[in-house]
Amino acid sequence: MRYALNRRQWIKTSALALAGLMTGPGLTSCKGETSVMKKIPDPGDFIMLHNNESPFGISPIARKAITGSIDLSNRYPHRNYTQLIDSIAEREDIPPDHIILGAGSTDVMVTLIHLVKKEGEILVADPTYFDFIYYANLADRPLNRVRLNDKYEHDLETMEKQISPRTDLIYVCNPNNPTGSITPKDKLQAFCEQASKKTMVVVDEAYHEYVQDEAYASMIDLVKQAKNIIVTRTFSKIFALAGLRIGYGIAHPEILKRLHKLSRNFAPVAWLSLKAAVASHQDQMFIQSVNKKNNQAKAFLYEELDKLGLSCIPSHTNFVLFKIDRDARELAKILERKKILIRPFVFHDSQWIRVSCGTKEELQTFISSLGQLI
Ligand SMILES: Cc1ncc(COP(=O)(O)O)c(C=O)c1O
Repeated sequence: MRYALNRRQWIKTSALALAGLMTGPGLTSCKGETSVMKKIPDPGDFIMLHNNESPFGISPIARKAITGSIDLSNRYPHRNYTQLIDSIAEREDIPPDHIILGAGSTDVMVTLIHLVKKEGEILVADPTYFDFIYYANLADRPLNRVRLNDKYEHDLETMEKQISPRTDLIYVCNPNNPTGSITPKDKLQAFCEQASKKTMVVVDEAYHEYVQDEAYASMIDLVKQAKNIIVTRTFSKIFALAGLRIGYGIAHPEILKRLHKLSRNFAPVAWLSLKAAVASHQDQMFIQSVNKKNNQAKAFLYEELDKLGLSCIPSHTNFVLFKIDRDARELAKILERKKILIRPFVFHDSQWIRVSCGTKEELQTFISSLGQLI
């Protein structure tokens, strides 16, 4: 029954959108715009270690699902929305009406940003996920940035003190990008419980499937208690579906209703993306095998960076951030000329390089070029 009700609600929402009753910000996303590069690189020409994509390929079951579904691409994807929503609902033990899908989790986050009142303020860590900051700036929503603490965790005490009547949204990225660090579960739970009494909290769990540390926990449990919290997740990382643009948010239906009203598209996720996501989501063996390869890549990076005398922040993700003693942007440009792409950062009075866990060969090439440059 719950399933049927959810489907009816969804069709009602879609019909409203079709009738043009919903207005949306009509946003477009361009990763290249946030890059130090002027042009968007062709993956065939570069070693791509700058976007935290998975180099380990998609699940074989997802591949089969995609190729087996091509002939139904002429149909709108409604039926597959419910399949994926039900799969997520079952895994997370949450009712299906608590789930919203988007063309990547960025889609859900950008809509959240547009829920923030023009005169409101978004509380974020510094540094945190660059694209969230980018889209908040693009939407002219003021940011209040609170420096990460010395362990690169969110400084939740200071963040709590910074909550004011103007605060309309709090963004917590856990694990955090670009640091790869986690904020411990007990502290984060307590913070979310308190903060969500005053304003909405979004917890971005894009790297959730990589985390193997007991100090970490998803905040989905708080969503179950109907707190003013939304958790976002993505299929772009461990599932390697970045090019198929699919992600989701988990929140109380009241929050999702507000998001649906801002939606610019009655079905933002494509049929083949849904098919691939459903198959990947159920492929536990695949997640384990990617984690194994990712851990090996990370161990290799730790060891090689250590040999070069470079110190990095222990990472709970598929990328590693390390400090360097020279201009990070300049180094990124030199590496780019050598066809290796990484991300430079400057924060906490230091220069940093973030490198994604590529294949062994890619990382060997990167390390050997880096060794010549530092
Ligand atoms: C923290 C974080 N959130 C979200 C995303 C993007 O997710 P999606 O591809 O689902 O839009 C990324 C991608 O780099 C990320 O690092």
